[in-house]
Amino acid sequence: MYNITLIDGDGIGPEITQAVVEIIEKAGVKINWEKCLAGARAYEKYNDTMPDETIKSIEKNKICLKAPITTPIGTGFKSVNVALRRHFDLYANVRPSKNLPNIITPFQDVDLVIIRENTEDIYAGIENKIDEDTIHGVKLITRKGCERICEFAFQYAIKNNRKEVGVVTKANISKLADGMFLNTFREVSKKYPDIKTREILVDNLCMQLVQKPSQFDVLVMPNLYGDIVSDLCAGLIGGLGVAQSANIGESCAIFEAVHGSAPDIAGKNIANPTGLLRSALMMLDYIGEKEASKKIEKALFEVLSEGKKLTPDLAGTSTTEEFKNEIINKMLIV
Ligand code: NAI
Repeated sequence: MYNITLIDGDGIGPEITQAVVEIIEKAGVKINWEKCLAGARAYEKYNDTMPDETIKSIEKNKICLKAPITTPIGTGFKSVNVALRRHFDLYANVRPSKNLPNIITPFQDVDLVIIRENTEDIYAGIENKIDEDTIHGVKLITRKGCERICEFAFQYAIKNNRKEVGVVTKANISKLADGMFLNTFREVSKKYPDIKTREILVDNLCMQLVQKPSQFDVLVMPNLYGDIVSDLCAGLIGGLGVAQSANIGESCAIFEAVHGSAPDIAGKNIANPTGLLRSALMMLDYIGEKEASKKIEKALFEVLSEGKKLTPDLAGTSTTEEFKNEIINKMLIV
């Protein structure tokens, strides 16, 4: 029995979380879910978007599955996601992008992984007002931050049988900050002679990704580029609704879908749980439940391939519940 913190989020969060929890249960993995709040519903209840008991639960369990939460824009609210990543020092954001069955996109040969540094860069939140008309925003890059994310990327490549790690920077302009990221990558790469390396500027990468994405394998980059490029890559495989992610630190990991709380469709039972489900599969792999993870993925792929019970975002007419039940049915057929 595993103890895992579960944040079911805001908007469509509770609907997709319920579906995912049920699928995992039916796959036979015994999990004691410790339900906690964060985001808008936490604020309503505790006047705090990230209550202490949620933090304590993650500290204790070390693993959390998290649905999207609503962050009001332009108010004093800090992003809970950024705060969680910083609090638990979840320095590696892992975002795989691989084509899914029957999801038609311009390219059918995408299979790449973005490894995004998750704690530094402009997300360190260092901004100063110089005067009424001038803001000084800091891009924070440390050697330790560069070393551990580059190390993580090479280790990921080895564990996942990948051939190449590319480093993405704008080191031609950001000579010191991105320059250190690039130089650190070069240093770290010397320890991994069997993995090919590649260096690419972020603007060129974006152009190449929308022309020939199949040329890329593992890509490691600073936080802001990773944020933007990983959404572009989600677009390459069918959009935010199907993309998964993991935030990994030394002693703790949080798995979450990349999309938001979709307030426009909340409560309508039409949200697609695929992104959260695939994030949960990364979680199952992480805790060693690889067989259950494969079983669920196989069932998911069958449902997608058949295309009969899809949610409206995938051009279907089924509800979240029907989609979930179809995955469970496929899983139970031996
Ligand atoms: P969003 O991702 O929630 O929605 C964008 C569009 O995609 C909407 O039309 C929505 O209906 C659709 N969509 C998203 N997920 C879907 C799913 N699973 N199934 C079907 N359709 C789906 O982005 P938006 O509207 O910019 O943000 C809404 C809220 O979510 C904001 O408060 C934002 O701050 C928050 N957010 C939270 C994240 C997190 O907790 N990880 C990540 C991104 C945004």
